[in-house]
Amino acid sequence: MANTTAGAVRGLSQKFICSKHVLSASPGVGLYSSRTKSMSAKALQYAKLPSLPVPKLNQTLEQYIRTVKPLLTKDEFAVTEQVAKNFGAPGGVGEKLQLMLEEKGAKEPNWLSEWWLDSAYLSYRLPVLVHSNPALVFPKQNFLSKKEHLAYAAKLIVGALRYKAIIDSGKLEQDYLGKSPLDMSQYTKVFNGCRIPGLKTDTIRHALDSNHVIVIHNNQFYKVVVYGENGQILDDRDILNGLTCVTQKYNGPSAGVGFLTTECRNVWGIAHEELNKDPVNRASLQAIEDSIFVMCLDKSSKIEDNATVSTRMALQLLHGYGAENNSGNRWFDKTLQLIVSEDGVNGLCYEHSPTEGPPIANLADLIVNYAQEKTLRDDERHLTPHCERLTFNLTSALDEAVMLAKRNVDQLVQDVQMNSFSFDKFGKEDIKALKLSPDSFIQIAIQMAFIRLHGHPAAHYESASTRRFHGGRTETIRSCLPEIVNFANIHLKQNLSPQEKFKALQSAVNAHKGYVGMAINGQAIDRHLLGLKRLAIEGGIDIPSLFLDPGYSTSNNWRLSTSQVAAVNDMVMCYGPVTPDGYGCCYNPRRDEINFAVSAFNSNPTTCAEKFGEALKKCLEEMRDVATSSILSSL
Ligand code: COA
Repeated sequence: MANTTAGAVRGLSQKFICSKHVLSASPGVGLYSSRTKSMSAKALQYAKLPSLPVPKLNQTLEQYIRTVKPLLTKDEFAVTEQVAKNFGAPGGVGEKLQLMLEEKGAKEPNWLSEWWLDSAYLSYRLPVLVHSNPALVFPKQNFLSKKEHLAYAAKLIVGALRYKAIIDSGKLEQDYLGKSPLDMSQYTKVFNGCRIPGLKTDTIRHALDSNHVIVIHNNQFYKVVVYGENGQILDDRDILNGLTCVTQKYNGPSAGVGFLTTECRNVWGIAHEELNKDPVNRASLQAIEDSIFVMCLDKSSKIEDNATVSTRMALQLLHGYGAENNSGNRWFDKTLQLIVSEDGVNGLCYEHSPTEGPPIANLADLIVNYAQEKTLRDDERHLTPHCERLTFNLTSALDEAVMLAKRNVDQLVQDVQMNSFSFDKFGKEDIKALKLSPDSFIQIAIQMAFIRLHGHPAAHYESASTRRFHGGRTETIRSCLPEIVNFANIHLKQNLSPQEKFKALQSAVNAHKGYVGMAINGQAIDRHLLGLKRLAIEGGIDIPSLFLDPGYSTSNNWRLSTSQVAAVNDMVMCYGPVTPDGYGCCYNPRRDEINFAVSAFNSNPTTCAEKFGEALKKCLEEMRDVATSSILSSL
């Protein structure tokens, strides 16, 4: 489960579900002026939310049978259907596990939380970069000088600290989905957090109080204090001095410990233990792990390819382009890494386990606005914050681990294909004008693009928010629904009238929208099935055949891992595929355009991010044509 879910559960942002948090670019007073300890979610006075429900077993099995059908042959389906029916038979193992889960659900406000954190993230052993951490590309900047580069980075730092101050003060406005208030606890986990690698499973560390950020430059780590003596956030001009000091401080060789965070988690876990044996290393690690966040000051990446600027930006933020470029100028375990490159590429990369996208994307919108509006004070009344280079003593074993990590990260970087583009023929508002749900429309186009390229449907994951419930995170929308596959087949293979095609499209949209409704109300099937399986494992019960059936594996082999991440600014989130033969596809539906980032692996001969992007554009346009010609002909 972990192998197939970790990357697929990446954070999304929904501007519509979030209140408009305002971050003024005017000099900080009141709310922003003092450093407060990070608040626990408990301290924030937000709406009391219902517990996460446990769906009915027969409802889940019905949906399971329905959604597995398009992915199997007739014979395979007959077996899988029977296995599912046996599982749900009266007095069978399914009923027994269901009762146990209902008991757990009655006692705990969120029966899923710990299982989800563990199986989707902390026990997942592949590197976090590409496989789990999403990156968010901010609008490109053009810096005419080193000072402009550093000044922009300083403004992003101050913008982020101001956002943190709003969260810490408990003054963040309540988020809503429609009229339902949403769980706000994720906001308290964006800052001061770090994932710590372990030999079998990782942990999350969260510093209660911290007064510094880590700046990484030329693969060197610097601790920069960002609050003044009275606890006020330092001015952008002061932070700029800190960054200037960092870039001038040291030009010697780097130990390259940042590369270790690009490794498989158990390899990094061993190296982390080894590093921790030395007191100097221990102090440096602690400074990084307990920092508020990381700012990576990147150099321009030297790459020879034909990629577009937007694709290059996405890749630099996702993986740093390898050992010779910026992959060592990172601490991929840190919850939040802001990145500003001297060539104007900027954005963030975040470690996914503590939080989904919405708090991150809100932060992004607000700090981008702040950085673009703010003009730096240009007087001499400024100070230089405390700024200290962190050092490491590497044993020969650790030196070797760094060398190996460099080789491995280069291989991973070589393997990732990205295609980031803006589809500009129409946007969200045009789809709404056709009286169709934009998200469902885009999801159908993604599945149809896969069918167009590969000739058959694929298991298709879309994240839905379950923040209506206490501690809620996500549920899977199974977007490979029979009605969607039916529309794709009709459209691609049959010569029907626009009206007939439009009817099939409407039915596909309605089916998707219906599944979204189930998912956001905690009534979809994937988290429920995970809970039943975890109970069997923990109770020493033989794993039920439902979970060993090939149909179950096929339906969880998410060859399409997709997310809507809405942001107001011209941004797009990106991440890697979650299966070797799959695609990652993230999108930001804007008013008049849709930003996409499609990824695939070079090592798989059947997938191609470039071709997928072309097929997707074609599907979107043809679907719009189906709808418009049907509507026009009925006038
Ligand atoms: N006709 C006209 N307008 C329609 C419509 C129709 N038939 N159906 C929907 N719309 C409108 C909506 O009212 C909405 O309007 P707005 O722009 O004024 O807000 C807009 O279209 C968008 O709705 P839709 O495209 O249907 O999607 P959604 O916004 O409901 O999003 C999900 C769907 C699944 C993305 C959302 O429910 C969700 O869960 N998002 C969060 C996911 C998340 O947090 N993930 C974290 C993962 S790590």
